[in-house]
Amino acid sequence: MENRLPRTGSDEMAFGLLSGALAANPFPMLAQMRSQGALVPLPLPIGAGHQTWMITRMEDAVRVLKDQAHFTVNPTSIGMEDIFMANSVDALSDPSDFLFRDAMISVDEPDHRRLRRLVSQAFTPRYIESLRPTIQHMADELLDAVQDQGQMDLVQDFAYPLPINVISEMLGVPHADQPQLRVWSEALARRMPGLGRRDEQSLAHIRAFAAYARQLVVEKRQHPANDLTSQLVQMKEAGDHLSEDELLSMITLLIFAGHETTSNLIGIGTLTLLDHPDQLAKLQADLSLVPAAVEELLRFNGPVTMGAARFATEDLELAGQPINKGDVLLIALSSANRDETQFTQPDELDIVRTLGRHIAFGQGIHICLGAPLARLEGEIAFTTLLKRMPALHLNVPREIITWRLSSNVRGLTALPVAF
Ligand code: HEM
Repeated sequence: MENRLPRTGSDEMAFGLLSGALAANPFPMLAQMRSQGALVPLPLPIGAGHQTWMITRMEDAVRVLKDQAHFTVNPTSIGMEDIFMANSVDALSDPSDFLFRDAMISVDEPDHRRLRRLVSQAFTPRYIESLRPTIQHMADELLDAVQDQGQMDLVQDFAYPLPINVISEMLGVPHADQPQLRVWSEALARRMPGLGRRDEQSLAHIRAFAAYARQLVVEKRQHPANDLTSQLVQMKEAGDHLSEDELLSMITLLIFAGHETTSNLIGIGTLTLLDHPDQLAKLQADLSLVPAAVEELLRFNGPVTMGAARFATEDLELAGQPINKGDVLLIALSSANRDETQFTQPDELDIVRTLGRHIAFGQGIHICLGAPLARLEGEIAFTTLLKRMPALHLNVPREIITWRLSSNVRGLTALPVAF
């Protein structure tokens, strides 16, 4: 459903974009912001005493994502109060802060390079490609379970379980624990500082998750297996400069980043194709177009709306706008991916468009580590779905489809389809 545009005003924009009110269709609001400027001031309680800016256009987004010297993901590196982080998992504040504190997405060079290099040793393109038969088998199994019913909730039955099964398998998480991981992971997703719901129940879930991750490490240390967690534990044992906290943060980030995002690519992507029957027909007629379609779906309606917050390391100018040291920059990936100066007819879905560059996976040193995995999962999911269910169609009126936004990830709550 298209959202009506709220009245203009940066308060409403900030609220609409970050609270989930515009999760179904943030694009008219993003277009309005782009027309206001490349940098739009937002009244957000992120950095006390500092202005928050939303970056709306590709060129500036890429500049900020690539310029580590002037934009940091770690506010303490420029002497700012650590607004995101608690010091201990037992702290009264949000323990998810602790869990992410040492993750590679939260640190600059040289720590970032060290952490990313370590995990990249395990996360090689060859390893990802070797997962193809496993992922295919998982996709087929999920569809086997619903095939005879003639209908399913594509989110619950397919888009959600597939990536969580894959990442759990990679990390050596037992199948029986996966439903629990989902509950914890959803609690983790609600952590946007100053905006997220930090209710007692969520905090309890996050503490339980932290305890679980610790226990997983203990088990893999005692009984190493053929999985990523065991490899990471052994790298640490081999003196590869991975602290216990970093190990925990790494596992947390992989579980978290590895499941909500790709699920939502599959869910939103399917709905987007159903919304564009001409494009769906084109794809069904030639499934070799699926990898290109995945890229266009990521550009057109990607699940991650914003990158992690960046902080200016000194006074500088960006898009003609003076920025003060400590100002917060939120990079609207979904807006940059519809930038009229970069794409012809950006609001059209065109699965065969010659796509120069999109930033659905970010850019620069923090560019998504899991992009090759997400692309492979997307390719297998859409190919299998369209091959096995050529008559796929919505099983409810379009207007009752509901959306949600957790932190900066958009997704569908359910997608009832028949086939
Ligand atoms: C469609 C699916 C996905 C999308 C759209 C996505 C998007 C992103 C984006 C935009 C970033 C950069 C954030 C920034 O610079 O602020 C990122 C980073 C990251 N992603 Fe993904 N992601 C996806 C799937 C995955 C998967 C499957 C995994 C892992 C299994 C993963 C792991 C990571 C990690 C570890 C980082 C941090 C990298 C670093 O800091 O160097 N992501 N992702």
